[in-house]
Amino acid sequence: MLSAKTIETIKATVPALEIYGEAITKRFYEMMFTNHPELLNIFNHMNQKQGRQQGALANTVYAAAQHIDKLEQIIPVVKQIAHKHRSLGVKPEHYPIVGEHLLLAIKDVLGDAATDEIIDAWGEAYGVIAQAFISIEKEMYDEAEQQEGGWAGFRTFVVDKKVTESTAITSFYLKPQDNQLLPAFLSGQYISVKISDPGEQYTHIRQYSLSDAPGKDYYRISVKRERGNNYPDGKVSNYLHNQIKEGDTLEISAPAGDFTLNMDTTIPVVLISGGVGLTPMVSMLNTVAEKQPERDVTFIHAAINGEHHALRDSVEKLTQEKKHVKSFICYEAPTEKDRAAGNYDKEGYIDLPWLKEVLQSNEADFYFCGPLPFMKAIRSALLEWGVPQNRIHFEFFGPAVNLDKK
Ligand code: HEM
Repeated sequence: MLSAKTIETIKATVPALEIYGEAITKRFYEMMFTNHPELLNIFNHMNQKQGRQQGALANTVYAAAQHIDKLEQIIPVVKQIAHKHRSLGVKPEHYPIVGEHLLLAIKDVLGDAATDEIIDAWGEAYGVIAQAFISIEKEMYDEAEQQEGGWAGFRTFVVDKKVTESTAITSFYLKPQDNQLLPAFLSGQYISVKISDPGEQYTHIRQYSLSDAPGKDYYRISVKRERGNNYPDGKVSNYLHNQIKEGDTLEISAPAGDFTLNMDTTIPVVLISGGVGLTPMVSMLNTVAEKQPERDVTFIHAAINGEHHALRDSVEKLTQEKKHVKSFICYEAPTEKDRAAGNYDKEGYIDLPWLKEVLQSNEADFYFCGPLPFMKAIRSALLEWGVPQNRIHFEFFGPAVNLDKK
């Protein structure tokens, strides 16, 4: 338990963190990777280059500091991060390394302003925060291992099938090499894929949503080939697309994540996706169609055009076969071929008037996933329509960010 004095010191230094938070975490990563380059096997190098992870960590430490005397209030946030940590293989012994370098960075950036009293208070506070993560992650490791067919850490899978779904998206059907059971998962969850490219010094880990319903003898991921624009192309996605063939093996961690479909209700469900954000949505769609065939489900997908539209056939098949499944398509820039085929319902972007037209009622559970501007637009459209917050569920591809931030 932290003393009242420590809590006071922590709270008093929050404004400085607000100003220097990102500088501190940037410095923290530089120092930590110099002293512990082995951690580059776990961290996403691209997030580092783009400063994304720095922001995520800074925000969490700041939030935790604000709630240091009532940490239970941020448990949902801790859990979401802990899912990711567990899926990546973050271990208790990593926490002191992070803590030590965080304090070194605070000292380095704040200089004399970081008195011994402040550093000690942050050391203590970090210990409390780290303990909250470690104990939640322990439960998650135990749960992953004890589940029927489950495992902790990474397990070798064979690529049973590789299927091109669109110009940029390819599906990989993965079966465990040991031919043993596959644990169930909740649709919306993701797995981590770890690759060891022989030409590379470090392993690389990325998360991919499972894109089919649970209960099969395979896990399916549908991976977009990431083009880097101003950065190098996506390391893992390009490796999977270019190097990995049927019969090759991949290291996979057990399904994780708390962006999952609520099946304890029969309220209609609306699944809205942009681009490769369709992967958890297709898993949810297939699950509702299989397990809750009487539940109304509407699948709305936005893609650039027909060439970029993945998994179209399987969704179309469901709408034809299942009375309660509906689907609508929005193309940002339809091709001539799309126009001739008339194979979409809206041109441009999804907006509120169109949502109202196709859905007619806002009485539903809404789930969505896609690029950041898409997510912001969908969320504000739903809020404007009066959908209560507790019916709005979404997930980011990368580190979580605040959707209210301009
Ligand atoms: C991801 C916070 C400790 C490794 C994250 C994220 C946050 C976070 C906010 C982003 C989650 C998301 O993607 O939505 C924290 C806090 C920690 C802590 C507050 C300490 C109390 C650690 C430790 C390790 C670690 C000890 C291992 C050395 C990672 C990795 C990611 C991550 C590898 C994935 C993102 C990336 O690779 O850039 N953490 N973390 N974290 N964390 Fe932690």
